[in-house]
Amino acid sequence: VIDIGKLYAQTGMFTFDPGFTSTASCESQITYIDGDEGVLLYRGYPIEQLAEHGDFLETCFLLLEGQLPTASQKADFDYRVTRHTMVHEQMARFFQGFRRDAHPMAVMVGSIGALSAFYHDSTDISDPHQRMIASMRMIAKVPTLAAMAYKYTVGQPFVYPLNSLDYTSNFLRMCFAVPAEEYKVNPVLSRALDRIFILHADHEQNASTSTVRLAGSSGANPFACIAAGAACLWGPAHGGANEAALKMLEEIGSVENIPKYIAKAKDKNDPFRLMGFGHRVYKNYDPRAKIMQKTTHEVLNELGIKDDPLLDVAIELERIALSDPYFIEKKLYPNIDFYSGITLKAMGFPTSMFTVLFTLARTVGWIAQWKEMIEDPSQRIGRPRQLYTGAPAREYTPIGRR
Ligand code: ACO
Repeated sequence: VIDIGKLYAQTGMFTFDPGFTSTASCESQITYIDGDEGVLLYRGYPIEQLAEHGDFLETCFLLLEGQLPTASQKADFDYRVTRHTMVHEQMARFFQGFRRDAHPMAVMVGSIGALSAFYHDSTDISDPHQRMIASMRMIAKVPTLAAMAYKYTVGQPFVYPLNSLDYTSNFLRMCFAVPAEEYKVNPVLSRALDRIFILHADHEQNASTSTVRLAGSSGANPFACIAAGAACLWGPAHGGANEAALKMLEEIGSVENIPKYIAKAKDKNDPFRLMGFGHRVYKNYDPRAKIMQKTTHEVLNELGIKDDPLLDVAIELERIALSDPYFIEKKLYPNIDFYSGITLKAMGFPTSMFTVLFTLARTVGWIAQWKEMIEDPSQRIGRPRQLYTGAPAREYTPIGRR
């Protein structure tokens, strides 16, 4: 049935690559990963330096524009993003349509998609000015929607953006401030969360980014494309892994139980895997995991959490796994999800919000990749082929004769 010769004749080349393990889908100048060396660069800058010295909006500018902003460009960018943080009041009514117990990611997918109904000008993606405004709107409004999704789930009134605050402090306030009570943003937590956003901002052609590019390749509205990316990110094999890693650490419970779980992870007849370990591309320590581990310590210290049993389990699990021949041979190292759950939980976020926070941070990566694709003159609609393995051609049988 599969006539590879014919397919080859039609295209000059035909590859079958399930999971796209060895197929580049595009050229890109945004993010570079060297999985063997554990290197991650945004526009050429090491993730370690960006996380140490910069802030998330600086990273947004870098990803979108290709270079670090000057002081005046940064001030202008911050101001423009800040001016777009409000969502239309009708969005608040739109939220009322969701069930009270809806997963916040379901609310995110729906509400980001709904923004396409508010910004008709963004449909003119041939206009660079409109593309930039759409980018600003998305970076600015997704945190507002994320905080609204959280407030809606816990049954509290929405908190409007306070634009005298910086981007991440504003987001923390929208999540955790309660009317009639004073709320002061903790600068250490705000800085830590800002750094977590930098670490998640882009990761080249992962599943959700590829989804955004494929959706956008048809010329679709950019808000609808970002909603498609959020839908893809929601899956447990992608953005949902940090939740799974935290659940695993809770299940292990104490350091005495670690050897039992290590043995389970090595047993080929047991489907159990160490969550937060291993990566398709990194065959070395995920550089983001190192920064995340440091951030976890900073957050727990700040909150006065001296002995977090989950952190004790995580540190010991990492130590044992990294000296075990199974993990060494298979090059399985902690990935970004290994420590992020502990950190976000300590900050007060419920596990159902973890992927929402990932969505917030990855929005800039999606939009930068979407822009790069739209601005590429050689861009064509994405249209993978298949190997057909179904029935051969056959005659239709009328229903009475089947
Ligand atoms: N625990 C135990 N063994 C593992 C683990 C693990 N976490 N990860 C991989 N292995 C083993 C596999 O059993 C396989 O062994 P084999 O060669 O004897 O069959 C080998 O290592 C290679 O694993 P694959 O699944 O083939 O590697 P792949 O690149 O397809 O998968 C993945 C990568 C999905 C991340 C995998 O390592 C995994 O399931 N990890 C746990 C989940 C997780 O942490 N996901 C988050 C990824 S990071 C992110 O999305 C932001």
